[in-house]
Amino acid sequence: MSNQPSIEQELIQRGVTRRQFLRSCALMAAALALPTSAVDAIAQALASSTRLPVIWLEFQDCTGDTESFLRAVQRPDPAINGAQDPSLTSLLLDVLSVDYHETLMVAAGYQAEQSRADTMARSAGQYICVVEGSIPTALNGYCCLIGGKTALSIAEETTRNALMTVAFGSCAFDGGLAAASPNPTAAKGVKDAVPGLTNLVHIPGCPANVVNLVATIVYYLTYKKLPALDSLKRPTFAYGQTVHRNCPRRELDEAGAYGDAKHRAGGCLKELGCRGPVTYHNCPTVKWNDGTCWPVQAGHGCIGCTNPAFWDTMTPFYGGISDD
Ligand code: SF4
Ligand code: F3S
Repeated sequence: MSNQPSIEQELIQRGVTRRQFLRSCALMAAALALPTSAVDAIAQALASSTRLPVIWLEFQDCTGDTESFLRAVQRPDPAINGAQDPSLTSLLLDVLSVDYHETLMVAAGYQAEQSRADTMARSAGQYICVVEGSIPTALNGYCCLIGGKTALSIAEETTRNALMTVAFGSCAFDGGLAAASPNPTAAKGVKDAVPGLTNLVHIPGCPANVVNLVATIVYYLTYKKLPALDSLKRPTFAYGQTVHRNCPRRELDEAGAYGDAKHRAGGCLKELGCRGPVTYHNCPTVKWNDGTCWPVQAGHGCIGCTNPAFWDTMTPFYGGISDD
């Protein structure tokens, strides 16, 4: 590991200037809700850290979180002479070394499974296990088999020696859609399927936001510990405030109907069923698709996708709610 280039060196090899690197560190500090004094600490950490190996497991899922991951692209920043500035999410490609990912890796079959085993052996206690999708426990787990092994046994085996396990997306958080009533596969999230994990972080969302995954890992690299978590094991920097609190539609608190003048003018969507007042997430500030938009900005109410059992507790999505 010590002979590998640091994250900063990898960025420089890709043509990123020192100024652009520091700008990315500043964006990361902002995403982590840290003061500007933290920028130096983040920069120093990324200058001395090598990329962390990642084993990305996919179980009962729709691949939405992987799609979210793939949105980690660069965008032009005209403020820097028209040059491409590494975006917040593109840091992901420099912070992580994804050694195993069923959907994205070239290897298949036995070769793919061997790469998971090799990563676990080579980087025991030093890799990050990202779990996407729920884990079925009915029928001894045979509802989801990969390489002849149940999702449950793979999760137990891979999380056991991980530096950190991230349950990424609402399905890995608490079972998500597959666990919605009547939950025919007895689907569970990581915490219930593999109880007792001490380094478990929940990043729920349907899908989850990659910025929050990167920020969690950058925080770990900088401070050698997990960020502060709430009672649901969600990082407070991302889940400490309601969607409603930071929503720009709050300023025009006049409810309308879809497509009418108030809706088009940016009116509040509460009467249309928006769950922003009871949902904790940093969507309004971090946004999606590399910071360009988010559901409420696009004109659709929040459906509360970061809440526990949201498919059962937040539906019907278009009924009004009370935030009293
Ligand atoms: Fe925004 Fe929804 Fe809150 Fe209205 S209810 S201000 S649309 S988050
Ligand atoms: Fe989810 Fe609501 Fe954000 S539905 S993506 S928490 S706006």
